[in-house]
Amino acid sequence: MIETIQWTDAGVVMIDQTRLPREEVYVTCIDHHQVAEAIRSMVIRGAPAIGIAAAMGIALGMRNAKSSAEFDSICETIRSTRPTAVNLSWAIERMRRVFAESSTLTFAEIRERLIAEAVQIRLEDIAINQCIGKNGAPLIPDGKTVLTHCNAGALATAGYGTALGVIRAAVASGKNIDVFAGETRPFLQGARLTIWELQHDHIPATLITDNMAGHFLHSGRIGCVVVGADRIASNGDVANKIGTYSVAVLAKENSVPFYVAAPISTLDLSLASGDEIPIEQRAASEVTHVHGVPVAPEGTEAANPAFDVTPNRYVTAIITERGVARAPYTESLRGLIN
Ligand code: MRU
Repeated sequence: MIETIQWTDAGVVMIDQTRLPREEVYVTCIDHHQVAEAIRSMVIRGAPAIGIAAAMGIALGMRNAKSSAEFDSICETIRSTRPTAVNLSWAIERMRRVFAESSTLTFAEIRERLIAEAVQIRLEDIAINQCIGKNGAPLIPDGKTVLTHCNAGALATAGYGTALGVIRAAVASGKNIDVFAGETRPFLQGARLTIWELQHDHIPATLITDNMAGHFLHSGRIGCVVVGADRIASNGDVANKIGTYSVAVLAKENSVPFYVAAPISTLDLSLASGDEIPIEQRAASEVTHVHGVPVAPEGTEAANPAFDVTPNRYVTAIITERGVARAPYTESLRGLIN
């Protein structure tokens, strides 16, 4: 199994996703500032993995801290890293609850409880993804190609993945499928990470550039689209990697089901719609350069929103560990929580 992130005595160990697939390098963060920087620079990325890193970053920060008074500032350092994936604040809130419930304990005991909670979040995530896979596998048509975008796989989680978890479970159930992965400009998560993961598992995978999605969705070859999510509003609007919205519209236009696979921790029922989801804006250099090599004239202005919002009308179903939600999402998503 691919090990995305682990808690060790030496610190938080992560596979460096900025260097895949060329190099398989593991980095060890020895304080919470290094964890925050790893999240910001996308050494670790993907909503559930960001949540786990956040929890482990807080545990690490407190392991190094002199007193409980440092807790809030450690949480704020972690919170300031990336704004869109709600799993980050979900994990911080979970660590906060443990901290609040530990007020009668010694500082050494509080630290141990926070470390145990972070380790537990990682373990739960793998089990959650396996449930998402089990719930989603029956929706995948046999003998067809599945289109995915970005990387919602083992690397984006503690293991197994959400969208790729559904694909893994469908393959394990005996379905004969192959995968088309959009390359996912500008950070190339599809080309670098999804293809790497699928090759690792011997699942047939074909790389396409993002602008080929419409062509293949029209061809009749694609049986369904499965993607992950960074935040899902209460009405079922879905924030995911930039380019997801275009794929969703093209899927509907061609009557191809569009599925979103995500854990309950990605739901943000405090938001009425996707219009309220904060969209991270990243550096222009990620667009103007590929691996440090300029692909546009010097001084080019470039926009780089890291995510877009797919309105709920394009979403055929949302696959979670607690079941599959369909429209109207305001009711079905709330039903999964209660
Ligand atoms: O910018 P990234 O690589 O963190 O974006 C990742 C995605 O958009 C994923 O699809 C999403 O986080 C779901 S991961 C299970």
